[in-house]
Amino acid sequence: MIAVIGLGFVGLTTAVGLAEKTGRKVRGYDLDARKVAAIRGGELPFYEEGLGDALKRHIGGTFVVEDDLGEVIRESEVVFFCVGTPCGEDGQADLGILKSAIDSCLRYVDGYKTLVIKSTVPPSTSERVLKPLLESRGLVVGDSIGLASNPEFLREGTCWQDFTEPDRVVIGCFDRKDEQRLKDVYAPFGAPVECVSPTTAEFIKYLSNTLLATMISYSNELSMIADAIGGIDVKTAFEVLHKDRRWLPDGGGSPSGGGAGGGVLAPVAMSAYVYPGSGFGGYCLPKDTSALAAISESSGCDPLVLRAALETNRRIKLHIAAKVEKLAPDTSTPIGILGLSFKPNSDDVRDTPAKHLIEQLLADGYTDIVAYDPIATDVFKSHYGLPIRYADTLDEVLESCDTLALVTAWDEFKGLKDKAPTKRIVDGRYVL
Ligand SMILES: NC(=O)c1ccc[n+]([C@@H]2O[C@H](COP(=O)([O-])OP(=O)(O)OC[C@H]3O[C@@H](n4cnc5c(N)ncnc54)[C@H](O)[C@@H]3O)[C@@H](O)[C@H]2O)c1
Repeated sequence: MIAVIGLGFVGLTTAVGLAEKTGRKVRGYDLDARKVAAIRGGELPFYEEGLGDALKRHIGGTFVVEDDLGEVIRESEVVFFCVGTPCGEDGQADLGILKSAIDSCLRYVDGYKTLVIKSTVPPSTSERVLKPLLESRGLVVGDSIGLASNPEFLREGTCWQDFTEPDRVVIGCFDRKDEQRLKDVYAPFGAPVECVSPTTAEFIKYLSNTLLATMISYSNELSMIADAIGGIDVKTAFEVLHKDRRWLPDGGGSPSGGGAGGGVLAPVAMSAYVYPGSGFGGYCLPKDTSALAAISESSGCDPLVLRAALETNRRIKLHIAAKVEKLAPDTSTPIGILGLSFKPNSDDVRDTPAKHLIEQLLADGYTDIVAYDPIATDVFKSHYGLPIRYADTLDEVLESCDTLALVTAWDEFKGLKDKAPTKRIVDGRYVL
């Protein structure tokens, strides 16, 4: 009874998660034949702890991946769209993939279906873009077709737990029928369901992501100010900041002792985002901050804080590059890059800070860059094709490089000071 269009991080998690929690039949569809083959074989097309076992439990049973889009749509009452909404012209969200996915489904609509937008889209997209699109195809929202916004808040690295144990579910519908259908779908999750207007639902997603981006950029700006003043132990300063109990949901404990998902999740308190690093990356924060800034401007409101968050995110990578170059002014010095994914426990390299740092070092004339990541090396290599060397192990990087930049906070790097006390390290994540 449920269809999921687009089986990337969000779609695959949604499909398997809905199969697990609701017990309903979920039909998935994706244009990427390689991804489909992997999923059908019970293999994840990306690295994500926790999701693999769940996929194996449901694939071929409650969750099937179909080649025939017509069958997927005809057999389903609720259709979740989880396709990409990349950064387009002038930072705006490019809605082309989503509109074309919706359009390709419409030709199979043979009764009342609820189309649910899980992809992140700028506030007012359902009202001003998607509703008119449906109307232009002769459909009437709330009468012959349902339309709803249901933004997703999962985080890569913990997506299974985030999806199956959400702290809130946000639903924005034009019609009560669709609201009831979605409430029924989410009933087994036992989470509060917040019913708001479609535009409010879309806004809530940006409210969340742009706050995280702003907190990270604030912390990074403060780290750059501290470096400029000198004599400041940045790591200690932020650790002391986090001792303020107002940061923690339980009003006490360590910075990692609370968290958005409650006690069951590997918790990350909000304070974890108020900590300096090498900049935010990945698929969501950069493009979503740009997209909200763009729609803010086109709506006549100057987004000063959002623009500053984006600019600081650009500058922090230059700052890290400058620190590396200060340690090794000779451009023939081998430079080790530790970490290529945008965050630990993920092999996602989209808009990863490591890529920007490496490009800056190459632009400044560095000729021997050696990169290492516990799991993301192959994805990074094929994604970017940069003229650098790759190491298979941490020891291999340490053999070739005395100057290193730690860019992703993988656990494997945390004992580096003890393991390699003589190395010159720019700790771009303040974990050493
Ligand atoms: N990745 C995250 O952590 C995250 C979290 C919350 C929300 N989001 C949002 O969810 C959306 C999807 O993100 P993602 O990371 O899963 O993207 P993704 O690129 O991993 O997956 C998108 C999938 O859609 C497929 N696709 C594209 N066009 C299609 C079509 N017409 N029919 C069927 N499949 C099609 C692609 O082949 C791809 O597999 C985006 O809007 C993103 O902003 C992402």
